[in-house]
Amino acid sequence: MDAPIVVLTGAGVSAESGIPTFRGKEGYWTVGSREYHPQELATHAAFTRMPWDVWAWYLHRRAVCRRAEPNAAHKALARLPCDLITQNVDGLHRRAGSRPYAIHGDIDHMRCANDCCLDIFAMPEEITDPKAELRCPRCGGMARPHVLWFDESYDEPRFFLETSRRLAAQARTLIVAGTSAQTNLPWQIVTLAVRAGATVIDINIEDNPFGDVATRVIRAPAAEAIPAIVAGHLQPD
Ligand code: OAD
Repeated sequence: MDAPIVVLTGAGVSAESGIPTFRGKEGYWTVGSREYHPQELATHAAFTRMPWDVWAWYLHRRAVCRRAEPNAAHKALARLPCDLITQNVDGLHRRAGSRPYAIHGDIDHMRCANDCCLDIFAMPEEITDPKAELRCPRCGGMARPHVLWFDESYDEPRFFLETSRRLAAQARTLIVAGTSAQTNLPWQIVTLAVRAGATVIDINIEDNPFGDVATRVIRAPAAEAIPAIVAGHLQPD
């Protein structure tokens, strides 16, 4: 049986598709808007206070993601037999043909803002009247972006909390790519894999805390390093 390979990706994997990262120089959390710090918009509290401002920001980010195309890293991972866990909400792994566990959600999807059900719905392709079209298809109430906000918690039905922990604890190889190690579940994933004795490969253009615990550190752009690693794994024994 093949050794289980688990891959954990972050914003750096989509950087070469032209999507800003979060904490880089042009990152979403770095470039402040006039009225709000962007990080404040990514909260349930902000959505409760000003839902249409928050929606407008997500619709802008969604448009950026939809204009982008999967790069060589996304395409290579779609060919690798692996369990793919992503923090990215941009949908590029999905569009490249993978079926990732999207632990921070997916910006092209929405769900009921009142939690009438656990369903997650594809958003309408074209949105001309947000207040009319961004509704829960089940109860007709307001919908919200299907993303994890700063004042919310991971769970299994929406964000694959237990699934990712289990995959990490069973991994023989964990490839971590393009993340700055600032969020909670990715830390748990890497820690569980290290404890399980997995080979941990950290791919990033910069040093980051995951590099300190990795077995192998690759300091190169994801769109170069990932296809090379995948080609190695796909070679016949
Ligand atoms: P960050 O913006 O925090 O970090 C991006 C990482 O990618 C950095 O370590 C960069 O050095 C690296 N990087 C940039 N370009 C790269 C490239 N071409 N190849 C390889 N690495 C590159 O983004 P994340 O770590 O993904 O959560 O952020 C994690 C979470 O924090 C996000 O999912 C978001 C944010 O709050 C939510 O919105 C819930």
